Amino acid sequence: MTADSTAPGTPYGTIPPASPLPQRKPISLPRLAQMRSAGEKITMLTAYDATFAAVADAAGVETILVGDSLGMVCQGLPSTVGVSLETMAYHTASVTRGLRRAQGTAWVVADLPYGSYQESSEQAMRSATALMQAGAHMVKLEGGGWTAPIVRFLVERGIPVCAHLGLTPQTVHALGGYRVQGRDDEGAAQLRRHALELQDAGAAMLVLEMVPAALSASLTQALPHCHTIGIGAGNGTAGQVLVLHDMLGMNLGKMPKFVRNFMQDTGSIREAMAAYVRAVKDGSFPDNALHAW
Ligand code: KIV
Repeated sequence: MTADSTAPGTPYGTIPPASPLPQRKPISLPRLAQMRSAGEKITMLTAYDATFAAVADAAGVETILVGDSLGMVCQGLPSTVGVSLETMAYHTASVTRGLRRAQGTAWVVADLPYGSYQESSEQAMRSATALMQAGAHMVKLEGGGWTAPIVRFLVERGIPVCAHLGLTPQTVHALGGYRVQGRDDEGAAQLRRHALELQDAGAAMLVLEMVPAALSASLTQALPHCHTIGIGAGNGTAGQVLVLHDMLGMNLGKMPKFVRNFMQDTGSIREAMAAYVRAVKDGSFPDNALHAW
């Protein structure tokens, strides 16, 4: 399918045209490393379906996370704990089909859901295979310490891995709620140890969620081969991620402090996404005085 914006529409919506950035090559790990060494921030946004993924790509977002936050924003679950591997594969396939139809170039990261990788490296490999076969370029898993051997196992078998430390929503009950992690010396030292182990195991990306800004900036310096992507972690990380529904102002609950509603001053979803990309790249989002701890 071509991305001709003048073609007659199909019923129920047409996948939007390809990225307006004609020079943009497919996003790859070497390209992300290049961006980082050039001091260019990496943008990530969640998407769960074909159209939003294609619009995010067209708005210039480099990496799309098919997050298990879909459990909350799409399925109405109370947390991410109830999301199944089948559901993740379904949404990953929808996102990657949308990108293909739009000739999109974004890098797609898919979450391994709760219970799909904790038992063994072999179980993690089977689950990661399902998401890669659904079209993902990389899988994400939560936690540190016990996850390092699993990350190594996957990476050695050719699966790029993004780790996730700080507030890890799949274990929110054990953490005692959605709260900032690594505030005290002991917590910060453990986070640092886990991050270094994950880089050593081959994780190429690391989401840092709800971590003090100074700590995530210093972790970023300590991890030259693993790109830190912050959410509620200040502006010193290599990139930023937000949940789509939050940045579009569709969070019906209490908006987390680290979110900015990019829809507020823009006239379309695509423009809101483009404003997010611009703000991350020019360093105006997140503002440590407003969005960080
Ligand atoms: O599932 C998700 O959307 C995530 C982000 C909060 C990073 O993991």
